[in-house]
Amino acid sequence: MMDAFERFGLLINDRVVRTPVAIASMAGIVDAGYVLERANHIGIAFIGGYSIDGPTMEAAREIASSGERKEFVYDDPVIELKNQIDQMAKSDVILGINLRGSSPESFGGIARALGDSVVYEVDAHCRQPAMVAAGSGEFYLKHPEKLIAVVRALKSESVTVSVKIRAGVADDDRKIVGELWKAGADILHVDLMDFGTAKLRQIRNTCPLMLIANNSITTFDRMKDMLSHGADLVSLARQSDIRTLAGLDAAISRYADEEGWYNAPKQLCRGGDIRSLTFCCMPVKECPLIPALSRINMPKETYIKMKLEAVRGTQLDDGKQTCFGSLSWCCKISSPCMFRDMTLKHAGISKKEYMRLKRDLSNTLMSRVFHDNTPDEAS
Ligand SMILES: Cc1cc2nc3c(=O)[nH]c(=O)nc-3n(C[C@H](O)[C@H](O)[C@H](O)COP(=O)(O)O)c2cc1C
Ligand code: SF4
Ligand code: SF4
Repeated sequence: MMDAFERFGLLINDRVVRTPVAIASMAGIVDAGYVLERANHIGIAFIGGYSIDGPTMEAAREIASSGERKEFVYDDPVIELKNQIDQMAKSDVILGINLRGSSPESFGGIARALGDSVVYEVDAHCRQPAMVAAGSGEFYLKHPEKLIAVVRALKSESVTVSVKIRAGVADDDRKIVGELWKAGADILHVDLMDFGTAKLRQIRNTCPLMLIANNSITTFDRMKDMLSHGADLVSLARQSDIRTLAGLDAAISRYADEEGWYNAPKQLCRGGDIRSLTFCCMPVKECPLIPALSRINMPKETYIKMKLEAVRGTQLDDGKQTCFGSLSWCCKISSPCMFRDMTLKHAGISKKEYMRLKRDLSNTLMSRVFHDNTPDEAS
């Protein structure tokens, strides 16, 4: 059986992610005990949200006392979180702590106290009025400069940072996502609400961050849809029961073993995100590639050079019998093609291996696009 890294190629906080299925936080509900009961079926879990300073702890008390919602309530967040982290010590589930705080100092202080063994997730999602009034949760999406300051404070403690956002709340999702990337965030955890895959693709086209898609992803079809539009993982909160998590974990593991690239994008002309440049042809005709290149400010010549350089010396360099003389320009394996398949057969490359090679090529292209270019728009 394939190991998890070979299967999914996912690393978070320098640890291999066992499966791209995550638990998203629910205040007062998702703690270490909740996660351990489901540990066999997930790769990462975000416990919390935990309030980490005076104003947010007060807000949590107010919410809990109203009796309408649960909250984690305690006197000392460091003691509480250390206790939770200790309970997870022997688990191979990567631990994220979803935190509500009202200042960069609160986040920096908690990271100093707890260390780098966990992922710090900034809760910029909560819309409970008391939490927003305390200057946390959704408040940050309306005050992006404050959110950026929090991310910088955490990064100055050299920890891995995730930011949990709700799509459609900030004035401009693309802008805030670009700023979070530049500020050093590592993971973007997006509650897509009703925006669906178009929003996900837009975010994927704006930044190279690891993306966790969230909201009502409870079936394998929906999970696959998220993965083929840019998500690296999916997360579940309300329906994070063992049966649902186990089903998704089993299905995506089987799919990865069969297909080779568990979150392969659709072809660009079928609505694929920027990763699908790996499947694109030479720019020889009017097709969606041309506007896609102009959106990332990349001349055609640079695109051609970039692909040719990226495959030089690899198995994708071969392919004299294919349309453009190299497998680097060839389509996704799901598009039937006799010429590509004959080339693969001749070179002894399985279809699954071909998709893995395309995944590697996509990773190289993504780093060139995002580090050497500044995409100015996404679609
Ligand atoms: C009861 C409850 C509490 C939640 N608490 C938090 C929280 O503390 N922090 C957070 O970032 N999201 C919180 N969420 C949002 C969930 O993590 C998730 O984004 C949302 O429920 C949509 O995902 P789902 O459809 O899988 O439930 C909460 C959701 C629920 C239902
Ligand atoms: S280059 Fe080929 S794969 Fe890409 S958008 Fe154009 S026709 Fe589709
Ligand atoms: S040879 Fe086949 S797979 Fe390759 S670019 Fe041409 S049509 Fe696509």
